[in-house]
Formats: sequence, C-alpha cells, structure tokens
Amino acid sequence: MAIERTFSIIKPDATARNVTGAINAMIEKSGLRIVAQKRLRMTREQAETFYAVHRQRPFFGELVEFMTSGPVVVQVLEGDNAVAAYRDLMGATDPAKATPGTIRKTLAKSIGENSVHGSDAADTADKEIAQFFSGNEIVG
Ligand code: CMP
Repeated sequence: MAIERTFSIIKPDATARNVTGAINAMIEKSGLRIVAQKRLRMTREQAETFYAVHRQRPFFGELVEFMTSGPVVVQVLEGDNAVAAYRDLMGATDPAKATPGTIRKTLAKSIGENSVHGSDAADTADKEIAQFFSGNEIVG
C-alpha cells in the first residue's frame, strides 16, 4: 500500500464543543499519523480560496460564514492510502447518512456543521496542504 498524505480540518462546531482531542484519538486509533497540526481562525479570504470549487453552490455563503465563525484545527495526516482511509473514518458528508463509528456519525450535527473536512483526492490534498503548511512544518 502507498504511504500518502491528506489534509484535514477540525471545523468550528467541533472546536466549540471541545472535541478536538476526541477526533485526534479516532484519527490515531485508525492508524493515521498527525504529522502537522495548528489551530487558527480562518480569514474570509482563506475560506473562500479553500472552498473556491463550491463558489457556485447555494450553500457557499453559509459555508464561508461557518468556517470563519470560530477556531479550526488544520492537519496533515499520513498513512496507507490516507485520502481514502480518512474519508472512510469521517463518514458521509451528511452525518445522518454516515456509518456508525465514523467521526461524523459520532460527533457531527448537520451537513453544514459536520465537524471535519478531508481531501477528496491526492492532488487536492497536495494543494490544500500547501495552502496552510510550509514544508518544514510537516514532520513525519
Ligand atoms: P467539506 O468536506 O468540508 O466540503 C464542502 C462542505 O460543504 C462540506 O464538507 C459540507 O460541510 C458543506 N456542505 C455540503 N453540502 C451542504 C449543504 N447542502 N448545506 C450546507 N453545507 C453543505
């Protein structure tokens, strides 16, 4: 299996409920390694750039408002097939449809406030990681 990196965000609904440690425990229990991590408040510009692919969606404004509403924890996760492995661990975008035991089924509130983000593909992961981390901040 290929060792890969993916980008993760612990979203404002999760930092507000003080469950960043609970999420990190689920990540580490799954075998993924947190090789970079920082807590920050996204600017509107950062959120709009990050979610640019969703600019035309009806929920874009709401998404940017939410992602700038409080602190987030941005992370780089490393492991076997990390992109797919983290998507499995997160569960479906809508927590109501997520499989039991996943982060979103366990912790998330709604499709908008769904506690975590994970990259959808390896090339997206590279771009998302580069938006928030420089090379020497990632230590595997
Ligand atoms: P994420 O994986 O961060 O990528 C895009 C986000 O848009 C997604 O998680 C959801 O939080 C959000 N999203 C997707 N669909 C909707 C929706 N119908 N209403 C509000 N937010 C949505």
